Amino acid sequence: MCEKLRDKNGPLLKKEIKRFVSNGRVCNLQEEVFALSGKMFCSLSFVPALALDHEGRIIAANEQFNNFFSIQNELTVGSYLKDVLYDSQIRNNQGEFLCPVLESLFTGACCNMENRVVLGKNVAVFTSLILDCSGRPLGILASYYELQLNDTGASGLLRLAACMREKVGNRDTYTLSHSELVGRYAFAIASRLGLKKLEQDMVFLTGLLHDVGKILIPERIISKKGPLTRGEYVIVLKHPLYSRDILAEHKHFHDILPAVTHHHERYDGNGYPDGLRGENIPLYSRILAVVDAFEAMTADRPYRKANCIALACTELKDNAGTHFDPEIVEVFIELVSEQFSCYGRPCFPSESKIY
Ligand SMILES: [Fe+2]
Repeated sequence: MCEKLRDKNGPLLKKEIKRFVSNGRVCNLQEEVFALSGKMFCSLSFVPALALDHEGRIIAANEQFNNFFSIQNELTVGSYLKDVLYDSQIRNNQGEFLCPVLESLFTGACCNMENRVVLGKNVAVFTSLILDCSGRPLGILASYYELQLNDTGASGLLRLAACMREKVGNRDTYTLSHSELVGRYAFAIASRLGLKKLEQDMVFLTGLLHDVGKILIPERIISKKGPLTRGEYVIVLKHPLYSRDILAEHKHFHDILPAVTHHHERYDGNGYPDGLRGENIPLYSRILAVVDAFEAMTADRPYRKANCIALACTELKDNAGTHFDPEIVEVFIELVSEQFSCYGRPCFPSESKIY
């Protein structure tokens, strides 16, 4: 059933739904599948997240959402978001939508890292409209980031980043969804490590944009289903440098260039492009290496199915100190465990269909 769900804003959320919904148990009830997915999406998200049904009723909002927007009373499932948070209004006197999520739901235009004011806060908003197999909206999922990128350049930077992402997305939807999750995980690690808010934002941006250089790699190589030839592999290895070169053209991205360039370095010095070792690798790159690998392992690829989260975590632990910075692996596994615990599931269910 969930294979048939379609996501108008790229495959990211469909993948999350696939990852967290057990096939079979809720088949033939599409709305219930979506309701369950929405709850999972919120409870497993590291950032403020919200799920609404197709009429704008609340399916779920996570704790981060309540804290972030200082919502005192827990949002009642089934109530209309506009009634609870917007005084029953959808638009202001100028006819503008008050809430980007309801706007996306009613117009069908999703937010791709748009800079908006939500409940008095400046945030970057992502929304994804989830449709059933006949194209009817089942509901919408949203996540929020309060980015404090320095000064007046912030909204321009967000627009630029969204535009870059769109370029990648038009070519390669896998890279787009991959980068979005990598950004989200990297952001969570940065905040757990106690980095300053601005640094957390830069880590997030690095995650979103680290693979932008893949747009310069020929289509036949990027979407090849079988193994790559040596020559093709050599071309793929150049993508961190391509990413650096593309981003270097925009002065706002200069701070993240080292992290982007070195996101495939290994802790033991056997990575590329420069074979940097240990703490000589920029911190943001060490964070990216962990979440990049985790996301790749837990995603479907053209040539293999996704691994379960437990297996991916074991793989990270086994490679801590060689491929990955062991401290970052530890922090990330702690975060993943917490997200699972808060949903009331065993941390790493051994025979689960969660993938
Ligand atoms: Fe990469």
